[in-house]
Amino acid sequence: MKRIQLPRGVGMWLLAGVALCAGLDAAPVSYHREVVPLLQRHCYGCHHPGKRKGDADLTALAAMREGGKHGPSIVPGEPGRSVLITEVSGADPAMPKDGERLTSAQVGLLERWIREGAVDDSPPAPPPRTVPPDYRAPPVITALDFSADGRWLAVGGYHEVLVFDAASLRRVGRWVGAPARVETLKFSPDSQRLAVVGGEPGVTGEFQIWDVASGTALVRVAPGTDSFFGADWSPDGARVAMGGADRSVRVLGTADGRELLRAMVHSDWVLGVVFVGNGNQLVSGSRDRSLRLLDASTGRMLDVLNRETEPVVRLARFPKEDQVAFAGADSRVRLYKATAKAANTDPGQDPNLVREYESFGRGTTAVAFNLDGTLVAMAGLPAGEVRVHEVGTGRRLATLGGHRGAVFGIAFAPDGKRVITAGMEGELRMFSLPEGRPVTNACPVEVSSR
Ligand code: HEC
Repeated sequence: MKRIQLPRGVGMWLLAGVALCAGLDAAPVSYHREVVPLLQRHCYGCHHPGKRKGDADLTALAAMREGGKHGPSIVPGEPGRSVLITEVSGADPAMPKDGERLTSAQVGLLERWIREGAVDDSPPAPPPRTVPPDYRAPPVITALDFSADGRWLAVGGYHEVLVFDAASLRRVGRWVGAPARVETLKFSPDSQRLAVVGGEPGVTGEFQIWDVASGTALVRVAPGTDSFFGADWSPDGARVAMGGADRSVRVLGTADGRELLRAMVHSDWVLGVVFVGNGNQLVSGSRDRSLRLLDASTGRMLDVLNRETEPVVRLARFPKEDQVAFAGADSRVRLYKATAKAANTDPGQDPNLVREYESFGRGTTAVAFNLDGTLVAMAGLPAGEVRVHEVGTGRRLATLGGHRGAVFGIAFAPDGKRVITAGMEGELRMFSLPEGRPVTNACPVEVSSR
């Protein structure tokens, strides 16, 4: 046998390496860091509170202990009696149904976690904040919305929603206890409630419903460990759809925050979801560049609506028909028909594309329609410019300037005569329409100089 001559000292290091690996292996399996991502990727799509195949919900430990049709999915300490392990083991594992099977290392990880007692080491969701934040600098504003009755403007702050009288832009409320980062705000169709989604990257994903009259949270749940984005109400106000950094498309009940649907159809962050087809279907847009049409009750994927040209960063529903505009990360806003394409469409074609708007040099960051669907506003980079176009002709009517940095929020006042923008600089800017003349600026919070 040929002896390998190692330089002096290396053998010691190899030994140390072995010891180190053994040491790592001995650390208990982490549910939060290892098990959840695995189940999320391979199993959650069919086993969540809104869709319990085999009557099994695998998204929470208590539900897994309760189990499904054939008993507890997990029995702490006893992988041999845990249906979850039986289902993913053997020469021809039953689960995941219709998907890539788990590797033996992944099965081993699940087994070991159960043998070690199936401990839930997820950090608790931070308690909602009760004291208004003290701002040292204007907050980056990522979300804005006017109520359809024209009375209120809601603005996302840090751990709070700032509420303004829509006509005067006077601040009338601070709703403390919102997610650290508010990604989207959306008033209900009847203007009585406000949906707030967001979170803290890698820590929580939160969903809240606030009562507008009292300024209190009616529903507050944290069903994720990463941010949610792009909320939209169903026309009857009973459901809200949203996307997640965990690649999920979710629908939650607005009365209790219960999850009604979770669809894992994208391969990257889902940054926008809107209801179409009278609340029966959803369109989701993702950084994976696709715009997908889903059945809103089953989550079944009905079609990919677009030729996948650029990552989708925001979606806006066209108020007149089933069409959706998306803001692309690389160049421009595009408007698509939100109905399934005709069969046998050539993949090189883009038959659902209704209109492409002028390109911005470095991508777009926001898009919004006015209430009657005649105007569309879009924000782009590099300068933080906002443009207002006629939807039908695509003609640019106005350019709203003066922003220092990217614009993430655009909201048309319901009267159609004003539009408000905000973003990086933390200031609200109001412009008159259709000419796009600056009317007023307002800082939404007091900034302390300490
Ligand atoms: C495409 C959908 C789908 C995916 C993905 C999927 N399952 Fe299932 N699962 C099912 C269906 C359907 C059943 C019911 C099968 C039956 O009753 O014959 C089921 C049943 C089960 C059950 C048995 C529940 C009971 O008590 O009868 C367990 C446990 C389970 N799945 C675990 C998993 C795990 C773990 C994964 C991921 C590794 C996974 N499933 C992925 C569809 C799926």
